[in-house]
Amino acid sequence: MNIPDIDFLSKLLHAESGLVINADKAYLFESRLVPVMSKFGIASLEALVADLRQKKDRGLLNSVTEAMTTNETYFFRDTKPFSQFREFILPMMVKNRESRKQLRIWSAAAASGQEAYSLAMICQDFKHSLLRDWQVTIIGTDISSEMIDRARSGIYSQFEVQRGLPINYLTTHFTRIDNQWQISEELRKMVKFETANLKNIPSSLGTFDVIFCRNVLIYFDIQLRTQVLDGVHRLLAPDGAMILGGTETVMGISELFEMYPEDRGVYRPLSRISVKAAG
Ligand SMILES: C[S@@+](CC[C@H](N)C(=O)[O-])C[C@H]1O[C@@H](n2cnc3c(N)ncnc32)[C@H](O)[C@@H]1O
Repeated sequence: MNIPDIDFLSKLLHAESGLVINADKAYLFESRLVPVMSKFGIASLEALVADLRQKKDRGLLNSVTEAMTTNETYFFRDTKPFSQFREFILPMMVKNRESRKQLRIWSAAAASGQEAYSLAMICQDFKHSLLRDWQVTIIGTDISSEMIDRARSGIYSQFEVQRGLPINYLTTHFTRIDNQWQISEELRKMVKFETANLKNIPSSLGTFDVIFCRNVLIYFDIQLRTQVLDGVHRLLAPDGAMILGGTETVMGISELFEMYPEDRGVYRPLSRISVKAAG
């Protein structure tokens, strides 16, 4: 690929999704766009870039954006956020929302859905105890419609269910279909998936008590990280909880959150007025 084409693609991708592909990662265009070329019957990368320059086909642009996302995920990824959810967040929410008995959870970069379903399985563990008579809604969103379709189907390969998923959850919540596994209808009903771009978080998503926004900010520049955290803050209840990925932080990016003193890996939102007054 020539430099002007790389430059054009990088800028286009950044404008669409916020993803940053620097020149040293330009090889990713070559490796990831081959399936898009064959899907659209385009003979070369140069021809693909020429089509994008002419803005002929919105579908092509969406496919290019989706192809450039990294969708790596697995059940109970990193373990700790899920024990924090089980042991700290959930009991706190149940105590604070006793009269309402409603809990809304957002998996903000859901990829193929394992994070959202992991949270759903934990909630199921408490459906006859802490969460008896509660209405729990989990929303998973992602920019990639291909990922959202996969997540909605709740169908995973043998390899995927062997990554992080405890065997008792596999036997309780999944049914074998040929050489794949589908998560139960009950859990699929509990989790709704829709496409959404974190660059423009739709307010129609509503507000949430718990937000998992993990392993996506790392792909954005500082400015967009700040913007996304601002948007997340708007949708998070004043006494809500947010969890980021293991290598992600609000430090130097947003002043709108602080750690819960009881669990320093979980963020709580600060009021904008107090942040303004302090600043
Ligand atoms: C590495 S996965 C993280 C999945 C999951 N949260 C986890 O931690 O396992 C990152 C996801 O972010 C999505 N993504 C990238 N840019 C996005 C954007 N602007 N808006 C919404 N999702 C985006 C990608 O499509 C991808 O599925």
